[in-house]
Amino acid sequence: MEGPGSLRQRLFRTKTIAELKECCAGEHALKKAIGPIELVFFGIGAVIGTGIFVITGIAAANYAGPALVISFVISGAACLFAALCYAEFATMVPVAGSAYTYSFASLGEIWAWIIGWDLILEYSVSIAVVAVGWSGYMASFLAGAGLALPPAFTNPPGVDGGILNVPAILIIALITLLLITGVKGSARVNTLIVAVKILVVLFFIAIGIGYIDTANWTPFLPFGWMGVITGASIVFFAYIGFDAVSTAAEEVKNPERDLPIGIIGSLVICTILYIAVSAVLTGIVPYPLLAQTSAPVAFALLQIGVPWGAELISAGAVLGITSVMLVLLYGQSRIFFAMARDGLLPRSFATVHKTLRTPVRASLLVGAVTAVMASLLPLESMAELVNIGTLAAFIIVAAGVLVLRRVHPDLSRPFRVPLVPLIPVLCILFCLGLILALPTITHLRFIVWLAIGLVLYFFYGIRHSRYAEHAS
Ligand code: ALA
Repeated sequence: MEGPGSLRQRLFRTKTIAELKECCAGEHALKKAIGPIELVFFGIGAVIGTGIFVITGIAAANYAGPALVISFVISGAACLFAALCYAEFATMVPVAGSAYTYSFASLGEIWAWIIGWDLILEYSVSIAVVAVGWSGYMASFLAGAGLALPPAFTNPPGVDGGILNVPAILIIALITLLLITGVKGSARVNTLIVAVKILVVLFFIAIGIGYIDTANWTPFLPFGWMGVITGASIVFFAYIGFDAVSTAAEEVKNPERDLPIGIIGSLVICTILYIAVSAVLTGIVPYPLLAQTSAPVAFALLQIGVPWGAELISAGAVLGITSVMLVLLYGQSRIFFAMARDGLLPRSFATVHKTLRTPVRASLLVGAVTAVMASLLPLESMAELVNIGTLAAFIIVAAGVLVLRRVHPDLSRPFRVPLVPLIPVLCILFCLGLILALPTITHLRFIVWLAIGLVLYFFYGIRHSRYAEHAS
């Protein structure tokens, strides 16, 4: 570790791998309870949700048309390159905190802070987006059963006479409670929900495939290639979450073997399912019709005259979106926990509860903040912000792999990204391309968020960092 030294030295002080491993022993240790299958399910639990059940329709109708399949392939490729980089880091540094921790080891404290702040944005806003999506499905599900909720309590202010989105608050509160009572129980609930979710998706593919009319696939590129790339930057939301597998690193029984299986396995399974769903969806419904619905997958089955199938899909979507929230809330609290343990955020959030062995305070804070956002903010304005934050995180992780290979070539790497530097460079290029395809307003919002983060760092983190204390 470097001495107090110049500002430059302080900003770019890095943690050694030994320091990273040492900080998570003793009173700040999390319990090791998760195996490889649970980890793959954990990944799928985070990934399949609002993206495929809601955003797919928007992307097909407005941007990609039947070429939605290609949008999914492009986004999936960017994620696969990123997944390989995450797997290398996650096995080398099996410590809570994901990309935040990796950049601390490779690029230095200031980059770690930036990425941690960025991940806070990614996770918290996506939890809010997903909770609002859940609330919408739940409201229509209850309405179908004759229990319509008043719009004032299912919408944010400014939308349909809304005051507060109450179901969104309730689901976040419920999942926060589940998480603080222990990770093993949460993983079991998640495994069950994910199994149901995969079956629902397979059911859609199996029923829909017989109704495909290839005429719906022409014209294949109604919005040209730019439409396909913009579509890819929007459906990217559907893939977010596989990276959350790495936030569980400290609680995995055999991280060197299980983390690559969890990260890459869950991503590959979801990519295959997405390509199949988008091909079937655009094959059975003319793409312009998808503009009329916020539940495109269920809508498609209604169009071909299978209403009971549409009901089943809706129920599966409510359940499936629940597991996305479970993993995202879990990941968010662990990142917050790791940053607090390093002193970049108030240290009291790094306390692990004596009997539950979970970071109760970090979980409660994350639950409270995301519940407030979910109850007050409209869904659409947030999803793109999540994408840009995640794409930026992927770029920093890929750059981190390149830097660490050069600076510490001899470190033990139980999993190695193949074809370095090609794969990390491709990851950076694909993610940059997708960022450029997002609207300018999203770029501006992201820059404002990062600026707030830098102000906080220079007023708080740089002085309270445990590495600053060590140094003096
Ligand atoms: N990928 C997750 C979803 O689509 C965030 O809901």
